[in-house]
Amino acid sequence: MVNDGKRLHSLGAMFVGVFAMVAINLTGCATADARDTSMPSVVELQRVVDEAHAKFKDLKDGKNADYIPILATVPSELFGVVIVTKDGRIYEAGDTDYMFAIESTSKPFNAALVMKEQGAQAIKDKIGVEPTGLPFNSKLALEIYDARSVNPLVNAGAIAQVSMVQADNEDERWQKVQQNLSAFAGEDLPLMDEVYQSEYKTSWSNRAIANLLYNYERLYAEPEESMRVYTKMCSVGVTTKQLGVMGATLANGGVNPLTGKRLLPEEDVPELLAIMLTAGFYDESGEWSFSAGLPAKTGVGGGIVAVVPGEMAIAAFSPRLNEAGNSVRALNAINYISDELNLSIFDGR
Ligand code: DON
Repeated sequence: MVNDGKRLHSLGAMFVGVFAMVAINLTGCATADARDTSMPSVVELQRVVDEAHAKFKDLKDGKNADYIPILATVPSELFGVVIVTKDGRIYEAGDTDYMFAIESTSKPFNAALVMKEQGAQAIKDKIGVEPTGLPFNSKLALEIYDARSVNPLVNAGAIAQVSMVQADNEDERWQKVQQNLSAFAGEDLPLMDEVYQSEYKTSWSNRAIANLLYNYERLYAEPEESMRVYTKMCSVGVTTKQLGVMGATLANGGVNPLTGKRLLPEEDVPELLAIMLTAGFYDESGEWSFSAGLPAKTGVGGGIVAVVPGEMAIAAFSPRLNEAGNSVRALNAINYISDELNLSIFDGR
């Protein structure tokens, strides 16, 4: 899991005035932020990213996920924070180029693929859209609702959405899943094979979920095939910066701001964001909506991506997780930025 991700130190308050006049985008161009007057300025965006990083970089609460053995070996001090605007400008601090396992932050983007192929209603009918109020890997959630209805962001619903991807065989299913995630990032995202092996060998709980779904006719491909492709999807490598671009694609109405490619029909974006708001933080989704007020998705790899519809995405990564499986530094950083810039979707801007 070790890679050569670089650490970009916080610019520091005295440099902000000089350097924050430019925003560096992926093509390396520097552009002035004057196009959208409703957006916070370049200076403000770089300031909040730097501050969020500086404020929480010494927070030691939580611990790495260890139920997937290899995740316990990721250096716990890594921390990256990024804002990507809907037109692709990037503001970053910390370890934003370190590649980590995408895990559950992949789920809304694969749900987008299923929505594109079959419409948002298919997700509602064949998986469900109710928050379970239960942990991400709950089997109980499948038993308590009559229709075996969950949502596409918990493990049960995510395994089901992988099984819904239209494909003639397992290889095609996986290729489509990987290509779709890469299209959201605007760059090829690799499979981290070590993560896949580590996770697949220990996936007994997810295997039970897949079998239960199959038993209730709520899985739409063979259980073990669905399991393999789901586990590969979670083992895709991503950087904080790429995760930010993925979120910015949703902020931009489903069009990747770097490639200009439409990845989701515009009318499906609000439905996907609604599911992220109500279920993206699992059994902490209420608390998250209350504090940050933003649709978001977390992953046990330590990543979180939040979307400010029509404006920007905020992504952060740090491996130590709280009890609900959400990165402590990342959630604090995003919460701080949302608060500083009044980004809550309930603020009535
Ligand atoms: O299925 C699992 O347990 C992992 N591949 C993903 C779980 C996850 O990321 C939960 N999110 N916070």
